[in-house]
Amino acid sequence: MGVKVSSFGKIPSGKETSLFTLINKNGMCLEVSDYGATLVALMVPGKDHTTTDVVLGYEDATDYWNNDGYLGATVGRSCNRNGGANVTIQGKVYELPKNERGKNNLHSSPDGYDRMVWNYQVDEEHLSVRFYRMSPDLEQGYPGNFEISVTYTLTEENEVRIHYHGVSDKDTVANMTNHTYFNLSGHQNGTILNHEVWIDSDAFTAIDEESIPTGEICQVDGTPFDFRKQKRVGAEIGADHAQLILAGGYDHNFVLNKEKGELKKIAEVFDPESGRRMEVSTTCVGVQFYTGNFITEGVQGKEGAIYHKRSGLCLETQFFPDAVHHENFPSPILKAGEPYDSVTIYKFI
Ligand code: GLA
Repeated sequence: MGVKVSSFGKIPSGKETSLFTLINKNGMCLEVSDYGATLVALMVPGKDHTTTDVVLGYEDATDYWNNDGYLGATVGRSCNRNGGANVTIQGKVYELPKNERGKNNLHSSPDGYDRMVWNYQVDEEHLSVRFYRMSPDLEQGYPGNFEISVTYTLTEENEVRIHYHGVSDKDTVANMTNHTYFNLSGHQNGTILNHEVWIDSDAFTAIDEESIPTGEICQVDGTPFDFRKQKRVGAEIGADHAQLILAGGYDHNFVLNKEKGELKKIAEVFDPESGRRMEVSTTCVGVQFYTGNFITEGVQGKEGAIYHKRSGLCLETQFFPDAVHHENFPSPILKAGEPYDSVTIYKFI
């Protein structure tokens, strides 16, 4: 029990980073780093009582710096895609980095929150670590000085609770997510194709050939996107469906059957092999279900692991991608002076 702090290595600027290890009474263990406010490891007991690390990750901050895929990353100020890499706020156009296809923005990169070293505050009593930083006006192109924090808490109910809180001095976009790749059999234990998934969603946002939402909201009924009954990830991933072909698998925003701000269970993942079950609850209106279609083939992960396409799956809670360009999507614009609050919980059964 308690919170242990150790070195997590240096980034090229020479800046040192730290790793925080949180252990609850059930022996579940969460590791997070101030490098990118990253979720690095999560050791969860399985049906045979062995404890396994169920998230993909790299060995230390240097490896995170040198590799891609946003493993365990805190993504902000705005996650997912922005078509044309711009946003208009109060009539003014703000240009964002064009880090995808030379024209769109993905995950507010290349110098996103996932590559910053955050300040931290440890709360031993509540098994939590709060990462915080002041994101200056026009950082990544977005207006407003944005005070943002990400608090990870490991509860005695085997939950990883992630709470984002922010305030900006100008209207801005606030759409934070966590990009953890889960493999409930263990991070080095094959693909997630046999995991079974349930998502409380009747519809998803269709994408174009650049993975930018077209604005169309498609019903899941009668399509491979119907996860309203628990279904194997691999059951229909190879189906001849235009949306699956465009993304090379699932990489879509699911419209959640809930109101914005209401904390509700929206997804479950079950791994028959290990018996582990994960429940996802969130206050967000959408979730990106991503099946690791673009994991760099053969990339070296932590503990000597080698990762492949579909080694892990993500459930990235969010506003809908490219929402700033679609009036029929809930708006991710945060008004100056108003609080941004968002909670997502990954609970293990
Ligand atoms: C998100 C995107 C994917 C991919 C990953 C990072 O999940 O939706 O298309 O870019 O991030 O590799």
